[in-house]
Amino acid sequence: MVTPTRKRSRNAIEAEEENLCEAGTPKRTLRSRTALGSASGNVEIVIPPSPKPGRKPLSRTAPSTPSRTGKKEVLNQNAIAESRSNKASTPSKSARSTPLKQLSPQTPSSRWSKRPNCTPGTPRTPTMVYQDAKALFRRCNTPSRLVGRETERRTIQTFWEDHVIKGNPGSLYISGCPGTGKTALLEEIVNRMEERVDEARHALRIVKLNCMSVKDPKMIYPKLLAEIRGEQTKAKDAVKFLESIFIPEASKGSSRTFFVVIMDEIDSLITKDQEILYKLFEWPALPGSRLVLIGIANALDLTERFLPRLKAKNCQPQLLNFNPYEIKDITEIIKQRLKCLEDVDDETLRENMPSPFKSAISAAKGNAPLMHPMAIELCARKMAGTGDLRKALDVCRHAIELVEAETRRKVLADSLPTAAPPSPSPRRAPGAGSMLLPNSGIGLSSPIDSLDALPKVTVKHILSATNMVFGSPNVNRVKSLSLQLKMVLCTLAVMARQKKGDMSLIKLHETYVQLCKNRRTQLIPVTKTELQDLVTNLETAGLITMVTKRGGGKRDGFGGTLGEKRTSQNVELCVRPEEIESAVADLPILVNLLRLDGAAKV
Ligand SMILES: Nc1ncnc2c1ncn2[C@@H]1O[C@H](COP(=O)(O)OP(=O)(O)OP(=O)(O)O)[C@@H](O)[C@H]1O
Ligand SMILES: [Mg+2]
Repeated sequence: MVTPTRKRSRNAIEAEEENLCEAGTPKRTLRSRTALGSASGNVEIVIPPSPKPGRKPLSRTAPSTPSRTGKKEVLNQNAIAESRSNKASTPSKSARSTPLKQLSPQTPSSRWSKRPNCTPGTPRTPTMVYQDAKALFRRCNTPSRLVGRETERRTIQTFWEDHVIKGNPGSLYISGCPGTGKTALLEEIVNRMEERVDEARHALRIVKLNCMSVKDPKMIYPKLLAEIRGEQTKAKDAVKFLESIFIPEASKGSSRTFFVVIMDEIDSLITKDQEILYKLFEWPALPGSRLVLIGIANALDLTERFLPRLKAKNCQPQLLNFNPYEIKDITEIIKQRLKCLEDVDDETLRENMPSPFKSAISAAKGNAPLMHPMAIELCARKMAGTGDLRKALDVCRHAIELVEAETRRKVLADSLPTAAPPSPSPRRAPGAGSMLLPNSGIGLSSPIDSLDALPKVTVKHILSATNMVFGSPNVNRVKSLSLQLKMVLCTLAVMARQKKGDMSLIKLHETYVQLCKNRRTQLIPVTKTELQDLVTNLETAGLITMVTKRGGGKRDGFGGTLGEKRTSQNVELCVRPEEIESAVADLPILVNLLRLDGAAKV
């Protein structure tokens, strides 16, 4: 099925993530901060012919762009390094500018050892671990070697050797559902193959384009020409120019350069008459062609359904389909990312921790850190339907955010004056204060000796995170409420978290007024009568239920009487506090209010 518009309907989380990773680049260019994903796509390699008889030496130049190596150095600053350099207390400048290796499951230690906070003297704290973990699950954080995909890797490598290295024109069409690793795998292979370009006997130029970067499909020609020649041309003239470049003999041209054009999201070039796609795939099949075309898109049958003429002329591209990830694939990918945390743990701790604690390192080597095995499996099971790894990464990141927020809340609540002062512990860093992880004696900013000390993502967190990623009906309902109604719900969420048991209307009003008047919120509270109306509205919307309780206590102004006995109206939430939190996440005033829950002893 061809679905050319499917990516334009991505959810807000994806958009937010992309903005984070690719600020300044046009929407729907590739997500990874790799050359293949660059908006301009102008990372190119030129290998001029060799002066040696029988063999041409190859050197790399990148005429109008930064050198490949230079670009890589920037690109390899992966998300973890970013988060570290932003948040680390004293990152050294020299350490930050050091080129970093990308994540690679095959080279676990090398990829971490040069990170700013992994230098001796800066052991990791719980805060840093959570930051690292969140960075690992950012969509733009692609490992330098993907997990699995061995068959697809072999097929692409063979195609590259047969066509690019040997100089045989041809085309390859890679299809597969969103988030199945098409772009990432091709990028990985092209990067590796670039190290072998010396084996080619011809000058080689690789041009990478994202077809979504042109508004009108016709503009792909001038875009491609601009990438090759750096010239701006009209679409009509660009076609002729490109033909003279790709098929030099037909146009009596003299170019001996061999071109590899990689077109991601090629399905966005679909037009009524399919003329553009037809031309692009036909070029490599023409006599004298010096072009290898690699197209990537979602539709499995794009070439068959839309380009019957290609089949007729026997210039159909080689086809490669990426099947959706299965449960075991997704589980493995999540585990591999989490294990990167362990590598840091081992390395930095062995170097930095006092000797009595070294033996405690990596106690539970079998399981991945920070997420319970059941939580990983549930995430994989939920995502296996679509096989979209991006969604799985989002769920893990949100789940880690949830567990981090939960831990902070507990730590904050425990550190309030009512809590008993913590007894001095040899493990706690000086200055760690009383901000201790629950039941551990470890401060949020003290060095840790094992990742097991940190609260882990559980099934509950995965369920909430899945709702956040896919949008739960409750969250959507809360989102559609007025600010006042949201405010009341947030108050109820605060009360529910305090678990004091008293959810009466009088308590609700008291808490509500107190939260409104807090200097961090500074809202004007509504009157008791107005609050009663808001509560009725929430009940009508099915977000709360009212329960009448018999009992004494003072007259609250809300309660009625039942015979001689006084009654009180109690509120029960029909949505989880996390759902309320998620629904108001874009309203700073309410986010502030929710953060008060530990401190607002009401
Ligand atoms: N096998 C894998 N191992 C590790 N990470 C992977 C793997 N496959 C995909 N990813 C990650 O999943 C994300 C999505 O991958 P990618 O962009 O390659 O998907 P795609 O198939 O090109 O999707 P689309 O059709 O939407 O362009 C990337 O962040 C990538 O790092
Ligand atoms: Mg892609």
